[in-house]
Amino acid sequence: MAPVRVLIVGAGARGGRYADWIRRHPDVAEVVAVAEPRAQYREPLADTHHLPPERRFSGWEEAAAHPRLADVALICTLDDLHLRPAIAFADLGYHLLVEKPLAQTPEECAAIVAAARRNNVLLGVCHVLRYAPYTRLLRTLVDSGRIGEVVSVDHIEPVGFWHYAHSYVRGNWRRTEDSAPMLLAKSCHDLDWLRHIVGREAVAVSSFGSLRHFRPEQAPEGAADRCLDCPVEHSCPYSAPRIYGRFLDRGVTGWPLTVLTPVPSQRTVTEALREGPYGRCVYRSDNDVVDHQVVSLEFAGGATATFTVSAFNRARPRETFVHGTHGELYCDGTRITHHDFLTDSTETLDVAEHNDGLIGSGHGGGDGNLLASFFPAVAARDPAKVITDGEDTLRSHLLVFAAEQARREGRVIRLDTPAWTADAEEWAGTWPEALYGPARSG
Ligand SMILES: NC(=O)c1ccc[n+]([C@@H]2O[C@H](COP(=O)([O-])OP(=O)(O)OC[C@H]3O[C@@H](n4cnc5c(N)ncnc54)[C@H](O)[C@@H]3O)[C@@H](O)[C@H]2O)c1
Repeated sequence: MAPVRVLIVGAGARGGRYADWIRRHPDVAEVVAVAEPRAQYREPLADTHHLPPERRFSGWEEAAAHPRLADVALICTLDDLHLRPAIAFADLGYHLLVEKPLAQTPEECAAIVAAARRNNVLLGVCHVLRYAPYTRLLRTLVDSGRIGEVVSVDHIEPVGFWHYAHSYVRGNWRRTEDSAPMLLAKSCHDLDWLRHIVGREAVAVSSFGSLRHFRPEQAPEGAADRCLDCPVEHSCPYSAPRIYGRFLDRGVTGWPLTVLTPVPSQRTVTEALREGPYGRCVYRSDNDVVDHQVVSLEFAGGATATFTVSAFNRARPRETFVHGTHGELYCDGTRITHHDFLTDSTETLDVAEHNDGLIGSGHGGGDGNLLASFFPAVAARDPAKVITDGEDTLRSHLLVFAAEQARREGRVIRLDTPAWTADAEEWAGTWPEALYGPARSG
């Protein structure tokens, strides 16, 4: 089968990473075009993939002005720039693989799903955690009945103090309006994953959380606006020179340094810290997303789950307890420890896939497996092979929107009542009947 032809839309961290996987799997896919306004990111990627000048576009708009020139548009722009390219490329007949979150509002998510359906193209969403071998093993264990019925799940996402400061105080996801609430930007993965592991839809949700620490009133006495000018930088765990200096010292040349500058070195990183957003004091940025949040969920059938996302920890993989009627599973991102109640014995299964919980390690194999799954689905034009498709993502994102609404309004939202159905209907503009069945009234 001929390799699937891919247009990379947005050659930043994610686009670059996926393009690199494609380069290493030429039998599966091939990058035939790139759309990226920043020449210093576009040109190296285009050179690596031997793209002719007419396949190097300065933005998605320019690429979309041409007739379709690839099978798949891989949309890796920032959260506020998924909607328009996704719809434009679907209308041109491209299959879509869109980074999460699909879009910023329920209406926009529904519009992308509708555009894919209208044009009869496949739509996959990069919920990469579902594709990690670790998740597959966990799901197999749960499905096999080894722990009986799932009664409750506790799941934590330790974002890590420096990663949080990098992405959610200084970086791209620091403001709800420009990006999304933390729960959508970061943890839409996790609510999606919990649905997947429990295997049922949530029927009720509540949530609490706030921006507690990264605020001006928490700044130490004498702190400056930028770390390079700061007299108390030496005693601040969030010091940008120290955080990025650790990566330079370890010889890292990729993420997160490439977010600051395309070719990281002591000189270019220092320049970025002097001038750019990543050198700002964490207490004097313009961030507004929460730095800690909990979500409680009840699923159909009565199982419950808690989810915690927090900045205040060592960056590491997510950890999960799954409590069943006949056994318990503890999962640390690479290993799953099973305790069987009948024999009162413990066994540990290791998927032996490197996972440090960070983007650089490819989400424990999830990044690569997503592509290895999506491109063959496109080659076969088989929607059944798309595991994280638009419709499933819409359900999953609606749960995130409901949880966020619950946090903002300080209430429990029941998702199995006519009241929520009506709310969701209002959110989604036109209730997508094909997905949810007829809207309930009353
Ligand atoms: N699946 C995951 O686990 C995961 C992890 C991190 C980020 N993400 C998501 O991936 C997306 C991209 O994140 P990133 O870290 O790669 O961001 P990034 O800023 O590194 O990359 C985005 C790129 O889009 C480019 N761009 C801007 N305007 C454009 C236009 N008009 N046309 C084409 N390109 C344009 C930017 O110049 C930039 O290079 C975001 O939605 C993010 O939330 C997903």
